[in-house]
Amino acid sequence: MKKERLEKLYDGIAKLTRDPYITGDGNANAKVLLIGEAPGAREIELGKPFVGQAGKVLDEFLSVLEIQRKDIFITNVVKARPFKINKRTGQKINRPPTQIEIDAFSGILNKEIDIICPKIIVTLGNTPLRYIMNDNTLTIGNMHGELLEKDNLSIMPLYHPAAIIYNQNLREIYLADLNKLKQVINNI
Ligand code: URA
Repeated sequence: MKKERLEKLYDGIAKLTRDPYITGDGNANAKVLLIGEAPGAREIELGKPFVGQAGKVLDEFLSVLEIQRKDIFITNVVKARPFKINKRTGQKINRPPTQIEIDAFSGILNKEIDIICPKIIVTLGNTPLRYIMNDNTLTIGNMHGELLEKDNLSIMPLYHPAAIIYNQNLREIYLADLNKLKQVINNI
């Protein structure tokens, strides 16, 4: 039922962008909804969220939580890849999504949340944290690991897994946050 509703919802994405896009993926009946920022090149290529480098880190951390991907649902705020062209190489490189891009996909994300109706939303990085809390002044550096509430939803903000690739000092903090999340999940 939820799966069919999501499929119908995703049929509408083609109207929002001419770029290739990916949808959310996973168990539509999950208690845990993970929200990332936007897909990168690998995600667009393979058609699923978090299957590139950041996805590898995510998988490692999910194993700490003793959670399998098939038990959760993963999506992104923006469903197409935000990119710019590197002037020197001519290659596409990732960039953070603009507010216009975030707004364009907001209806889809809101409906995904509505359909899945998770017990807890885990936001990865600044973009989904700010979107869900409707507050662009928040930073993940200040909010990570704090259990929040918004519109009757429980929210746990975590660093984006890519942040750990670039800053190994965050690993310990990330593990501590994950342990908190594990306890929360075990109690829902
Ligand atoms: N980073 C994200 O935020 N989402 C993905 O799907 C992949 C990398």
